[in-house]
Amino acid sequence: MSSWQELEAKYFMHTFNRVPVTLVRGEGARVWDEDGKEYLDFVAGWAVDSLGHCHPVVSEAVAEQARTLIQTSNQFYTIPQLQLAELLVQNSCLDKVFFCNSGAEANEGAVKLARRYGKLKLNGAYEVITAMNSFHGRTLAMTAATGQAKFQDPYLPLPIGFKNVEYNNIEAIKAATTEQTCAVMLEPIEAEGGVNIPDDKYLAAVRDWCDQSGILLILDEIQTGVGRTGTLFAYEQSGIVPDIMSLAKGLGSGMPIAAFLAWDKASLFAPGEHGSTFAGNPVACAAGYATLKYILANDIAGSVKRVGSYFMARLEGLKQKFPFITDVRGRGLLMAMEFSHDIAQSVLMACLDKGLLVNRLKPQMLRFMPPLIIGNGEVDEALDILDKVLSSIDI
Ligand SMILES: Cc1ncc(COP(=O)(O)O)c(C=O)c1O
Repeated sequence: MSSWQELEAKYFMHTFNRVPVTLVRGEGARVWDEDGKEYLDFVAGWAVDSLGHCHPVVSEAVAEQARTLIQTSNQFYTIPQLQLAELLVQNSCLDKVFFCNSGAEANEGAVKLARRYGKLKLNGAYEVITAMNSFHGRTLAMTAATGQAKFQDPYLPLPIGFKNVEYNNIEAIKAATTEQTCAVMLEPIEAEGGVNIPDDKYLAAVRDWCDQSGILLILDEIQTGVGRTGTLFAYEQSGIVPDIMSLAKGLGSGMPIAAFLAWDKASLFAPGEHGSTFAGNPVACAAGYATLKYILANDIAGSVKRVGSYFMARLEGLKQKFPFITDVRGRGLLMAMEFSHDIAQSVLMACLDKGLLVNRLKPQMLRFMPPLIIGNGEVDEALDILDKVLSSIDI
């Protein structure tokens, strides 16, 4: 154990299951540990470093803003948040933005907005229908929204107002809808829950149901948004639009920033009804603005689609080769590999040894969420390592 890892053991609440590596530097799709060992990073800050580590446009924007104005209060106008708000609205289907500091906060805000809508337009309806195997964040309310017992059980009883129903099942949403329902909240792909991709018509059917019932559709695009799945937002691939959408992760290419957006008709907060000290912090927004401008100007989503297809073809090749791979799936650069046995942790550790960072999503499942700027070369490099590792696995 390095002395940094000893410090962690001594001073840190033990909530993170870390691998024994202390990272000290990053550039593009690569990171280096304290001993100078290089790794190809297919975790990317948990699907966060969209332009890779320390991309010059992001680092420059952050440095420049940090030299100029780091934080004011939202009593005042500041320019980076307005530039980012305009760019987000111009490139999405929605009209208004509220900035936050984390994905969980963005979803909290989205649900609060839906409750305002319920109070003002739906006779006080307040319940939000969410899906099993979803993940919406770690606050108490978002723990109630997250349909996974392992996150909920340690904190029971949970706040009221959420119903978790089966994903990819429109009948389950219909059955759960009552006059207390103000919204349905879903991920376009359940990312943390297993990279679960719903049937093509599911989101359209949910949209229709929400329209018929007069309730709102919230899409949690915290992991799927900002190019990750091969379009700027994943909803574009399902032919529907949400009423409210939450974003975080890739939006600031590593800087903590999140947002929720809504139609004008749903943007019903009155002054003082919602807020946050750091919301729209100038440095975070400068990073977000630089990231989004770069993604749009360089068609990064298009590149994600192309590289993602190549990635999927190579994953399929591994599946043909190794009978213990039971499934490979994903969209863009959000991919999963499932095994017949609980070998994900040993595969992860062997990849680490060979200089590749991957994510163990479940005991029998790996996830890949590299920076969006990678090309086929990095995919080859990663999958050649994985191929070698899988060849040495004894099942
Ligand atoms: C879809 C989704 N929603 C919400 C969150 C929570 O985001 P944060 O960890 O920034 O609070 C995550 C995090 O993994 C996520 O994947």
